[in-house]
Amino acid sequence: MHADNWAQKAKKKGYRSRAVFKLEEILKKTKIINYSNVLDLGSSPGGWSEYIIKKYPTSKVYAIDIIDMEPIDGVTFFKDSIENLYNLEEILKLKGCFKLVISDIAPNLSGISAVDSENILNLNMLTVKIANDFLDSSGSMIMKTFQNSNLKTLRKNMELSFKLVQTYKPAASKKQSGEIYLYGVK
Ligand SMILES: C[S@@+](CC[C@H](N)C(=O)[O-])C[C@H]1O[C@@H](n2cnc3c(N)ncnc32)[C@H](O)[C@@H]1O
Repeated sequence: MHADNWAQKAKKKGYRSRAVFKLEEILKKTKIINYSNVLDLGSSPGGWSEYIIKKYPTSKVYAIDIIDMEPIDGVTFFKDSIENLYNLEEILKLKGCFKLVISDIAPNLSGISAVDSENILNLNMLTVKIANDFLDSSGSMIMKTFQNSNLKTLRKNMELSFKLVQTYKPAASKKQSGEIYLYGVK
């Protein structure tokens, strides 16, 4: 399906972004059954948080992004970088209590590929650390990354602390974008 058609489908279903279809597709392939506490990193405009809450209304979602997000019932939002997550008391209290950490973070690109790849790797490595610190012993993570020379390093890093690591390229993800998703189970 063309990107515009995914956007139309999102509008029709009342979702705020077409990114929901990527999450939906990945979740269908996983065995995640418990969505009680979910941490959404790089959440704005809020499609993923909205999807979790609509599908699992008893979930508690904590979302963080450097840009604002229109409020969603059941979602606690923090306007901040994930680099400051460890300063957020309300989230710190929940260390070890999350069932799922999702990250759709896409950093601003400088256009200099070496700089961009390094920046993405640093944010992805931090995401893996956050998942390790905040997930409970049977939790899962889903993280966007990009197909570049650092992908192997990142995957190996995840394999150190996750029993199962898989990559997904959802149909709703533009082929030319280079984005890819890593799924890990503790
Ligand atoms: C593709 S969008 C996320 C879309 C979202 N999953 C949805 O369904 O609506 C990527 C987001 O990552 C955010 N982002 C980039 N760097 C970040 C950082 N250091 N900390 C938190 N969010 C960040 C951007 O502001 C942007 O809103």
